[in-house]
Amino acid sequence: APGRVDAIRGRLLWFEADPYLAGEGEAVRYVEDGLLVLKDGRIAAVGEAGALATTLPANAVIADHRPHLVMPGFIDPHLHMPQTQVIASYGAHLLEWLEKYTFVEEQKYADPAISAAASTFLLNELLRSGTTTGAVYGSVHPGSIEALFAEALSRNMRIIAGKVMMDRAAPAALLDTPETGYEESKALIERWHGRGRLSYAITPRFAVTSSEAQLQAAGALAAEYPQMHIQTHLSENTLEIETVARDFPWSEDYTAVYERYGLVRPKALFGHCIHLSERERKALSQAGASAISCPTSNLFLGSGLFDLAAMRAAEPAVKVGVATDIGGGTSYSMLQTVSEFYKVLALKGQRLTPFEAFHMLTLGNAEALCLDDRIGTFRPGMEADCVVLDSAATPAMHWRIKTVETLFEELFVLMMLGDDRAVAATYLMGAPAYRSDNA
Ligand code: GUN
Ligand code: ZN
Repeated sequence: APGRVDAIRGRLLWFEADPYLAGEGEAVRYVEDGLLVLKDGRIAAVGEAGALATTLPANAVIADHRPHLVMPGFIDPHLHMPQTQVIASYGAHLLEWLEKYTFVEEQKYADPAISAAASTFLLNELLRSGTTTGAVYGSVHPGSIEALFAEALSRNMRIIAGKVMMDRAAPAALLDTPETGYEESKALIERWHGRGRLSYAITPRFAVTSSEAQLQAAGALAAEYPQMHIQTHLSENTLEIETVARDFPWSEDYTAVYERYGLVRPKALFGHCIHLSERERKALSQAGASAISCPTSNLFLGSGLFDLAAMRAAEPAVKVGVATDIGGGTSYSMLQTVSEFYKVLALKGQRLTPFEAFHMLTLGNAEALCLDDRIGTFRPGMEADCVVLDSAATPAMHWRIKTVETLFEELFVLMMLGDDRAVAATYLMGAPAYRSDNA
């Protein structure tokens, strides 16, 4: 294919395990002059450039990114395609923001041309930010997902996505029914799931906008397709939680609503999870579901502070991912996202080391999506999605980095000061997908 390279040279950084659990020595892999050898879009070998270069044919194309860092591509496990023109809308808490901005905007996505234009913009912006995989919500319209999947397929990008199911508490133009939501989702699964690198996620928006009949239909679909992802929102805002308690008076708590309909299981992704009880955390972890924190969104909407320590303390620990939540979230950059995560945790009296943060953006998010057999680390056989990062990309970074002595310090500067400007290049399946001027 045009532009394909045989190997990538640079300062390679990847993770074999969670540094919080395994310790940095076990978890972190760093090769100062490393080579990533590629074959048919996958990683063939990874190691020292000096040793590996001699195994390549004389005419091999090597993309030399020294002195930049090369990492597995970032993974964004929660964002909304129809909210690229909702991002940065003023002054509201979650339910107000949905009503005032989001539910107005999403009606436009009945138009396939608008869905196509936004999908193109979104995937360009993700790649510019070093994000190579996303778990994405569409609008209620199946056409929104048709457009997004078509765009992702043409780029060979790994995208998980689903049409939103919502049958109440929103404008009529945005509602499906238990029957149409089920049928339209099923048709999208049959048409798209497994093509290229696409996967379908059954996507009931949240318990506020789905009737019991619709959650039951979503659960029936999930039972029919046990391999599908499920994505929804859980325990983001206190008014939302009160609404759910009123709408489902029989339920012990918010999580119990989703449990009742078989929606809490492996590959189920719960956005936010801010105000969970100990029982709810345990219900998620025992089911093998994932909690996805969205720090820029939670600060912007004033929703609350995610409790990472409580997730880790559950028995077993809850799988945790970190995501942008565009457009409740305020940045497409996963670097900015972990910068804000660090600050959220600081307000909770907790810490996130840069190794933990970069693990979370790569292998950790891959594990939260149950995709760690394909993406998130550099190991032979894995899909060759990667991001090239320039730790001196801006004047502030360039000036600060002069005083840095360790990889730990460099990564912390990169996550606190970096954004899309720090992304020098992005590769999808070994093919260049984005290149900045300073690549
Ligand atoms: N809860 C239900 N829908 C949404 C949404 O679009 N964004 C956020 N942040 N929370 C939600
Ligand atoms: Zn969301």
